[in-house]
Amino acid sequence: MKILNNKAELLDFVADIKKQNKNIGFAPTMGALHNGHLSLYKVARENNDIVISSIFVNPTQFNNREDLEKYPRTIAHDIEKLKNSELVDAVYIPTVNDIYPNGLSSKQYNFNGLENEMEGAARPGHFDGVGTVIEALFGQIQPDDAYFGEKDYQQLKIIETLVKNLKLSVKIHGVAIHRQEDGLAMSSRNARLNNEEKNASTIIYKTLKQVNDWFRVISIPEIKERVVEIFEKQDNMELEYFLIADEENLKETDFFYKDKNYRAFIVVNVGKVRLIDNIHLE
Ligand code: PAF
Repeated sequence: MKILNNKAELLDFVADIKKQNKNIGFAPTMGALHNGHLSLYKVARENNDIVISSIFVNPTQFNNREDLEKYPRTIAHDIEKLKNSELVDAVYIPTVNDIYPNGLSSKQYNFNGLENEMEGAARPGHFDGVGTVIEALFGQIQPDDAYFGEKDYQQLKIIETLVKNLKLSVKIHGVAIHRQEDGLAMSSRNARLNNEEKNASTIIYKTLKQVNDWFRVISIPEIKERVVEIFEKQDNMELEYFLIADEENLKETDFFYKDKNYRAFIVVNVGKVRLIDNIHLE
């Protein structure tokens, strides 16, 4: 596996691949790699000749300084994990200047309103930061396909919109949420939970599965009340939001329509760690 430590090294690598007429699958990350990331590479490996990943903790997508500072950085472990996986041909570890040559600021995007829902409302500027780094990485890597986890479902929809609006020629793939055996969605932030918090956090997915059982049986306001009650009973946990939204436009709904698909979205603060999860409602 090649380690590409700056933009110049990356551009050489990409030029060589393009010369060979091979296609590129790309999975961007912020490091602290776990098996959820490996599941992205596995799909990429099946679809593409060459798989590139990137590791870059993107400052502009953090609206909270402490969150940025505390974000786990485990680069040596990440490189080991990537090598052992044998799923990735090259990892790009850009410098801040490679991504932000004109200074650390985000572009302003219009994601057709998706940016105003859920995480966009809770974390002002977050999706402008994500859009900026992804546009830069796509520009440099020129992938044919790119892979994003459904855990950040709103991010996935935002990237699809970015690609459509900018008429980029990369195909975006959503990859199903990778969960631990106990149901907790794999996330780099889980590394910040102690054992007790980790065990307690399994209530998040258990609740989402219950929501799926209640879907189209009781009303959405009733489902929301029950979810609030569940989290009121948990120690050291605060429900930041729970809602059910149309899977395409991400608008919250209080009613189900027959011909539409819905997803339940949840954010819970466990101690100081903000966990996010969602489920497609059957
Ligand atoms: O999902 C993430 O890890 C990040 O938001 C991404 C897509 C790598 C952009 O920094």
